[in-house]
Amino acid sequence: MRHVPVLLEETIRLLQPERGGLVVDCTVGLGGHAEALLEASSSLRLIGIDRDPQALEMAEVRLRPFGARVKLAAGNFADLEALLHQEGVEAVDGILADLGVSSLQLERAERGFSFRREGPLDMRMGPGRLTAGMIVNDYSETDLEQVLREFGEEPQARRIARAVVRSREQKAIETTTELSGIVGKAKAGRGRQRPGRIDPATRVFQALRIEVNRELLGLEALLDQAVRLLEKDGRLVVISYHSLEDRIVKNTFRDLARGEVDEITGRTRSESRVIEVLTKKPIRPSEEEVAANPRSRSARLRAARRL
Ligand SMILES: C[S@@+](CC[C@H](N)C(=O)[O-])C[C@H]1O[C@@H](n2cnc3c(N)ncnc32)[C@H](O)[C@@H]1O
Repeated sequence: MRHVPVLLEETIRLLQPERGGLVVDCTVGLGGHAEALLEASSSLRLIGIDRDPQALEMAEVRLRPFGARVKLAAGNFADLEALLHQEGVEAVDGILADLGVSSLQLERAERGFSFRREGPLDMRMGPGRLTAGMIVNDYSETDLEQVLREFGEEPQARRIARAVVRSREQKAIETTTELSGIVGKAKAGRGRQRPGRIDPATRVFQALRIEVNRELLGLEALLDQAVRLLEKDGRLVVISYHSLEDRIVKNTFRDLARGEVDEITGRTRSESRVIEVLTKKPIRPSEEEVAANPRSRSARLRAARRL
């Protein structure tokens, strides 16, 4: 199985692997970005992290030719500092996070990420207790509605939550296709589903995935630790796939780049600026990239340099 790396050229240009040193790929996945970075410079070393053991097994095979230049570690990037300390690393020259799910996770029906493939309502990226099925079958109607509204930005959250609760009163909802059928019916006739629009279940699946994997909390924790770990002039590149993630990256970068204002002079204390933002606007994939790799459609890349 191939996972085509998204915004690859831009990622390499911004991370500058030719400077050598140590880069941590927080979402090594199937090793696409990692492989290209290692190929770009023989003096670069890379630590690859992923919470998905299946992905790590595949990355291990793909990155084997680079020998001791690569180390892989299973874990959640929310614990980045601890994971690096375990490897005896205190600081790095570059950090990459390519958020979201991999093709491996989407294409394996049994992982339950895709509403197009019949599978169990799982959606766990790695080890963890909470599954999508538990949210759908056990959360109260109000909590379910809140998850759909907050993490899916789903305008019909209330209607869908009610339909889910009504359906599970008859029988537990077990599969991805059962759930997308319930969502489709709940939304039908609301006049908002024009042909060519995204599938009615898209936002619901996004919301469940974010809740199951605590994705937004993990991203905040990662950004917080990343700036502490970067060497001066080190680079941070984050690729996000929906507006909730991108907003967190954008706002965190803005705050870290602004620095503190001196109350007496009203000027920014230049030494309090932590990063320089390298992407005024997020970088989006070209039309050609989207045509060749539809998964890149919603990608937005933001990069920063540690001051
Ligand atoms: C889009 S894929 C990365 C693909 C990779 N850049 C490549 O080119 O093959 C995202 C990966 O990040 C992993 N992931 C998502 N959230 C994570 C987290 N909090 N900690 C560690 N890995 C995470 C997923 O398991 C998935 O394998």
